[in-house]
Amino acid sequence: MDVIGNSKALTDVDAQALAVAVFKGETADRGELKTLDTAVGGAVAEAINSEEITGKENETAYFQVNSGKLKFKRLLLIGCGERSSYKATQVTQMAGTATRFLRAKNIQNIAIAPRGENDVERLAQTVIVGAVMGLFEPDKYRTKDKEKREINSVTVVIEGADRKAIQRGADRGLIIGESINFTRDMANEPGAYMTPTIMADRAKKVAKDYGLSFDVLDQKQMEKLGMGSLLGVARGSEEPPKLIIMKYEPSRLRGKKDGLLALVGKGVTFDSGGISLKPGENMELMKYDMTGAATVIGTMRAIAQLKPSVPVLGVAPCTENLPSGKATKPGDVLKAMTGKTIEVINTDAEGRLILADAIAYAKKLGATKIIDMATLTGAVSIALGDVNTAILGTDQDLIDEVIASGVEVGEKFWQLPLDKEYTNQIKSDIADIKNIGGKKAGTITAAAFLKEFAEETPWAHLDIAGTAWGDPATSFRSKGPTGVAVRTLVEFIERSAA
Ligand code: BES
Ligand code: MN
Ligand code: ZN
Repeated sequence: MDVIGNSKALTDVDAQALAVAVFKGETADRGELKTLDTAVGGAVAEAINSEEITGKENETAYFQVNSGKLKFKRLLLIGCGERSSYKATQVTQMAGTATRFLRAKNIQNIAIAPRGENDVERLAQTVIVGAVMGLFEPDKYRTKDKEKREINSVTVVIEGADRKAIQRGADRGLIIGESINFTRDMANEPGAYMTPTIMADRAKKVAKDYGLSFDVLDQKQMEKLGMGSLLGVARGSEEPPKLIIMKYEPSRLRGKKDGLLALVGKGVTFDSGGISLKPGENMELMKYDMTGAATVIGTMRAIAQLKPSVPVLGVAPCTENLPSGKATKPGDVLKAMTGKTIEVINTDAEGRLILADAIAYAKKLGATKIIDMATLTGAVSIALGDVNTAILGTDQDLIDEVIASGVEVGEKFWQLPLDKEYTNQIKSDIADIKNIGGKKAGTITAAAFLKEFAEETPWAHLDIAGTAWGDPATSFRSKGPTGVAVRTLVEFIERSAA
């Protein structure tokens, strides 16, 4: 897809269709809307006055435009809510609604006028991220009724702005949007097509295509390193586990030269629960239990192209969680790489087991700051639904910075507490710790478990189990993987480089 920055008037737009933001309570008798309204013979005023469009978020009004003077032949008005609360979330959604709506009308070449007031480069970036995300479809394996229509070109129009700044933002938005969709595509793959080996191959290709260093640990190497916790999960499966390692190293180090951020992501390519087998209902969704790992790989893919001036390490432990005659049983004790012993009470609490060794390994590779992300607990959906991603950790500055990065790009994080008292819930009678903490505060006790391995290294944990999968579809997003956290992490990394 081509992205183009344009600073001309809306009436000069050269595309098949133009999508324009409309706010609540707005009339067409002033500014840009007035010029546009005059050029289209009063259609905008008519739509607003008749209340065909009131400006409510994601409302649409669509017209054919018949004016010899205008190049575009279709006009789409998109409701964006109150102007005062028009932020990244609304801009992203508006752009997604634009591309999804206009693709359905078989249009290939569109322009979007976001009419935002913030920084031009940022605004253009946000528009293109939303536009690209809007185009994701999970229908890869359909042979009939597959979405075949494509949008080839998106122009961002910000009248009177610096055209080069719009273009820079749009180019960045394309990299980020495509990396988010890369993560979504991986998350959407059935378990059989996204085994740990296939994940490692995909990550290797990303590393090669965009110039990252790459390494992968196989089972033998894990054994040598004493990763008994990760291996304890992998035991039940015929598919060999993989520990993916990617590293971005800037060509020049500027600013904060010391320190290495590690992103660590849970890569359970299918979670049946193991011997503590899950109920059958919705089990097919457990193919997305590798979204944390896909988020790491997608973020690294973006970073490799955006080239911030800080190094970033990506670590993704990948395995299936299946029951078999060899599988770890409830009551078994595993020994993690750090030497800590873990009583496995429930084999379905496997994410924390593989992250334990991956976090320890990230530290061994020199990480001084760790952010892990995982579809870790069903409990997080009970607490926060699909609106906020839970964030917990040991370093308040790190947590605050992730939350602030999320606000900037339009993703919501909500901090849950991690007082030391919660650690009491994971005390074991026979080993150092056990892998579940009972019914109470399930998301927190899972994080308390991870804390045992992050130890003194500043660490934040994102539980994306509730936000990584979207259901139902909306005007701006298909049903299925959301790609949550990729854009927040990219923003976080770029801020730390500034
Ligand atoms: N992968 C699941 C968590 C999950 C649930 C992700 C629903 C996405 C949607 C995780 O491995 C798991 O099974 N967690 C258990 C922990 C329990 C056994 C303490 C859970 O949440 O039920
Ligand atoms: Mn599980
Ligand atoms: Zn799981």
